[in-house]
Amino acid sequence: MAVERTHDILIYGTGLAGLRAAVEIARKSEGKVDIGLVSKVQLMRAHSGCAEGGTAGVLYPEEGDSFDLHAWDTVKGSDFLADQDVIYRFVRQCPEEILLLDHWGIPWSRDEDGKIQQRPFGGHSYPRATMAADKTGFMEMQTLYDTLIKWKNFTRYDEIFATGFLMDGDRFAGMTAIDAFSGELLAIRAKALIIASGGAGAIYAFTTYSHTVTGDGLVHALRTGLIPLEDMEFIQFHPTGLIPSGILMTEGCRGEGGYLRNSEGDRFLEKYAPEKMELAPRDIISRSEITEILEGRGIEDEASGLGHVWLDLTHLGAEKINKRLPLIREVCMGFLGIDPITNQIPVRPVGHYSMGGVEADINGRTRVENIWAAGEVACHSLHGANRLGTNSTAECLVWGGFTGQEALGYVQNGAALVPLPEEQVKAEEERIYEDLMKRDGDENPYELRRELRTAITKHMGVYRTGELMTEGLNKVKELKERFARIHLKDPGRFYNTNLFHVLELENLIELAEVMLVGGLAREESRGAHSRRDFTDRDDENFLKHTLVWKKDDELELDYKPATITHWKPVERKY
Ligand code: FUM
Repeated sequence: MAVERTHDILIYGTGLAGLRAAVEIARKSEGKVDIGLVSKVQLMRAHSGCAEGGTAGVLYPEEGDSFDLHAWDTVKGSDFLADQDVIYRFVRQCPEEILLLDHWGIPWSRDEDGKIQQRPFGGHSYPRATMAADKTGFMEMQTLYDTLIKWKNFTRYDEIFATGFLMDGDRFAGMTAIDAFSGELLAIRAKALIIASGGAGAIYAFTTYSHTVTGDGLVHALRTGLIPLEDMEFIQFHPTGLIPSGILMTEGCRGEGGYLRNSEGDRFLEKYAPEKMELAPRDIISRSEITEILEGRGIEDEASGLGHVWLDLTHLGAEKINKRLPLIREVCMGFLGIDPITNQIPVRPVGHYSMGGVEADINGRTRVENIWAAGEVACHSLHGANRLGTNSTAECLVWGGFTGQEALGYVQNGAALVPLPEEQVKAEEERIYEDLMKRDGDENPYELRRELRTAITKHMGVYRTGELMTEGLNKVKELKERFARIHLKDPGRFYNTNLFHVLELENLIELAEVMLVGGLAREESRGAHSRRDFTDRDDENFLKHTLVWKKDDELELDYKPATITHWKPVERKY
C-alpha cells in the first residue's frame, strides 16, 4: 500500500524555478503555507547548478538599455514565433529578480566601484548578462536555498522519483513517487502543483546536460491527456560544447571577447553573421559551425571522431580568464589537460535546451486549474523557435516567482484537497512493481537508451530533413516496441537505480516521438528547426505554435497562433 502524504502546494523540481517558487510562497505566506519539494536528486544537485553565463535583465536604462530593446532582441532571436505580450511581461520582471537576489546575498560580479557588472551575450544588442563569474546558476541556487531555509514550512523529498500525476477528473489530486531509500511508493497529495522539473537534454548523446535531465515532468503532464506539450521540435544547440564530453563552454567566453576559428585559423562568422560575429544567436552560429565542418574546414578529434572548431580565448589574457571565466579554465585543465590562457579549446554544437515544454499561459498556469509550470519544463511561448542565452535563468526566476504567487493565491482562496484516486494509485503500484520490475525479456534498457540518444542526435540535429526525421520516427517506434521486452537486473527495492533508469527511458522514448512528430509536420525552417528540404520560413502557414496532445494512448497534433502585439515578422539578419 502506498504511503500517503499531504501538503498545500507541491513543487516538482528543485532547480532555479522550483526554489524561486518555494521562496515566493514562503515569504508571501510568512511561512504559513505548507510546501512539499520533490526532487529525484539531492536538492542542490538540480541541473540549474550547471548554468554558467548569466541572467538577462535591463539594469541600466540610463546608459542606453531598455525594455523595448530586450523585448526586440528576444522577438528577433525567436525568429518571430515568441508571444510578444509574454516577452514584455518577462523583460519588465527580470531586473526585479536580479535585485531580489542581490538583496538575498548573491555575489554578483561587480566593478571596482561596486556596481553590478553585465557582459555581452549572443543576440542581445546591449550587455545585459548579469553574472557571478561563470558560476551563475550555482550561486543563484545557493542564494535561493539560503533564503528558503529562513522559513520552516517546507518538506524536502530528496531522491524521490516521481512516476506520475494523480487526477480527480480534470483536477490535480497528487503525485505518485518512489522513495529511493525505502523503495516504497508515496502518494503525495496537494491542493496545487508547480511543475519545475527541467528539460530533457539527456535525450541527446552529445549534450551539456546531466544524465538526470530526462523530461519526466513533461511526460507526466502529457499523460494526463489534459495538457499538451508545445513547440517541442525546437531544440537549441549551443555552439560551444567541449569535445568530447559536451560540457558547456559558456557563451560568456565569447561575451568576454573570445573568437571562433576554423581549421584555417579564420574567424568564419564573418561569412555568416558579419555584424554580430561570435555574438550572433545560437541557431545561426551552430549552423555555421556545422557548415564549416561539413565543407572540410573543421578539425577532427581523433579519439571521439567528432568534427569541431576552435574557441580561442588566448588573446584575452590570464587576468580576465581567471577573474571572469575561472570555471572554464578549471574544466579545460581538468578534462582535457589544456590551459585556455595559452591553448585553443575544441568545441562543436551540443544539445542544450528545449524551447518547448508543458503548455502554460502568461501566468504559468496550465489547462488544469491547479497545475502551473515554470522553468525549462514549461513553454510560456517566451522563446519561440530559438532562445537567447541568459533568458533561461531569468525565465526560471521570473516564472518561479509568478507561479509561486499564483499557486499561493489559489490555496489562500480556499482550495481544498481533492480525494485520493485510490484506483490510480493501485494501478501505478501494479505498473511499477508487478509489470516493469518483473519484466524479464531479452532487451537491455541501457542499450536501448544508447540507441535512442544516438538516433535523436542523428535524426533531430542542427539540420533536418523529412527523410531523416521519418527514419528517426521509425527508429523510435522500434525502440518503443523493444521496450516492452526489457529486462530489469535489480529485483530489489533499495536504491533501485536500474528501475529509475527504465522509467527515464520510457519517458525519453515518449518525448522523442513528440519531438519528431512536431518536427515532421513543421514544413519550414525557423530558428533552431532548420530543414534542408524546406529552407525558408513560412509565416503564412507556420507562424503558429505546435501542440501535441496524448489522447487514448495516441499523439494528436494541434496548433495555436503566435501572439504578435508589436513587431510583424521581417527578415532575420545579424
Ligand atoms: O553559455 C551559457 O552560459 C549558457 C547560457 C544559457 O543557456 O542561457
